[in-house]
Amino acid sequence: MLRKWKWGCDTILSKGKVEGGIIKMKAFVHRGNEVVYTDINEPVVKEGQVIVALKVAGLNHRDLNIPNRRGNNSEPLILGSDGAGVIEQVGEGVKAFKVGDEVIINPGLGWKENSDAPPEGFEIVGLPDHGTFAEKFIISEDYIEHKPAHLNWEEAGVLALAALTGYRALFTKGVIKPGETIFIPGAGSGVATFIIQFAKAVGARVIVSSRDPQKREKAIDIGADLAIDTNSDWKEILKNEQIDLVIDSVGKATFNRALAILKRGGRMVTFGATTEDELSINIRQFFYGQYQLLGSTMGSKEELQSMLQFIEKHNIKPIVDKIYPLSATGDAFDYLRDGNQFGKIGLLI
Ligand SMILES: NC(=O)c1ccc[n+]([C@@H]2O[C@H](COP(=O)([O-])OP(=O)(O)OC[C@H]3O[C@@H](n4cnc5c(N)ncnc54)[C@H](OP(=O)(O)O)[C@@H]3O)[C@@H](O)[C@H]2O)c1
Repeated sequence: MLRKWKWGCDTILSKGKVEGGIIKMKAFVHRGNEVVYTDINEPVVKEGQVIVALKVAGLNHRDLNIPNRRGNNSEPLILGSDGAGVIEQVGEGVKAFKVGDEVIINPGLGWKENSDAPPEGFEIVGLPDHGTFAEKFIISEDYIEHKPAHLNWEEAGVLALAALTGYRALFTKGVIKPGETIFIPGAGSGVATFIIQFAKAVGARVIVSSRDPQKREKAIDIGADLAIDTNSDWKEILKNEQIDLVIDSVGKATFNRALAILKRGGRMVTFGATTEDELSINIRQFFYGQYQLLGSTMGSKEELQSMLQFIEKHNIKPIVDKIYPLSATGDAFDYLRDGNQFGKIGLLI
């Protein structure tokens, strides 16, 4: 269960203020038992690294969980995994980028080549090291990519984590083929809005569910062929459909119901558990049905680069629901936790 944090705000110093010889910047951090918008030391560039002056950062469900996972850790940690901005400084030895380049952050650290699962040591930006909800962000040049030219800053800032997760779940794990039918419970999820667009781009039939009629309409607007109520009788409504692939991230609330409408021998990919992590399945029905269950998590640098080429080729843009100023990150967290969004939420920096 996600704890409802009280978001705070320290007295903010002016931009670039120097305190004890150290330049300060604004950031949204977890420290001790609080989550606050405050001043924190600017990063100092080292060999092989770049400093990105962020324009927009993107929220993910993971950001809500991190304060809970850190408990009362008093060391300040800047939250956030996604972001886009302009390179402000480059360290010695940086080869592929220069000051002024427009870039997005690759949030998956330590996973370069494609593989069945992330290698040991794989980490995500924003834990254990500082994240992107700040004016500046420091990272190795290995984990930035040029900003796709067809995206504006808001779209670029919310793109990477969710689009990469959807790309791997749909193509690498789900191996979707043109003409197949995919079912996605929870159409409003940031990742789902990418999967809908990606699957349509390769000629799949896309069926989604949502609890909210407005989100069902929006899902149709971005390409879904059919949008049904999450609380309806899926077996009855979909009795004439052959579902080849289910991609679920809602977890306990939808997992077994989605499995029950999958065709025999079909594939189910899971990468999230927004409701609950633990559930029971009928193993006999599972093996008689000869289903294939596949876990997925984010993706490699190789997959990120393929995803970027894919969205440029198909002119796919993230669905941005709402943008908050960095100073109102707490409100953005409340909005995400309440599940009202359709698509992504961003922070303007
Ligand atoms: N493994 C990874 O690498 C990875 C990466 C990204 C995300 N994730 C996980 O994947 C999940 C989705 O992430 P996200 O950021 O896209 O999520 P999100 O934007 O927060 O959306 C979650 C969706 O779940 C549906 N939902 C929530 N409670 C529900 C309930 N009780 N019954 C039915 N549906 C419900 C809602 O759909 P409707 O409002 O449309 O009904 C909601 O839009 C999260 O659990 C996240 O932690 C994992």
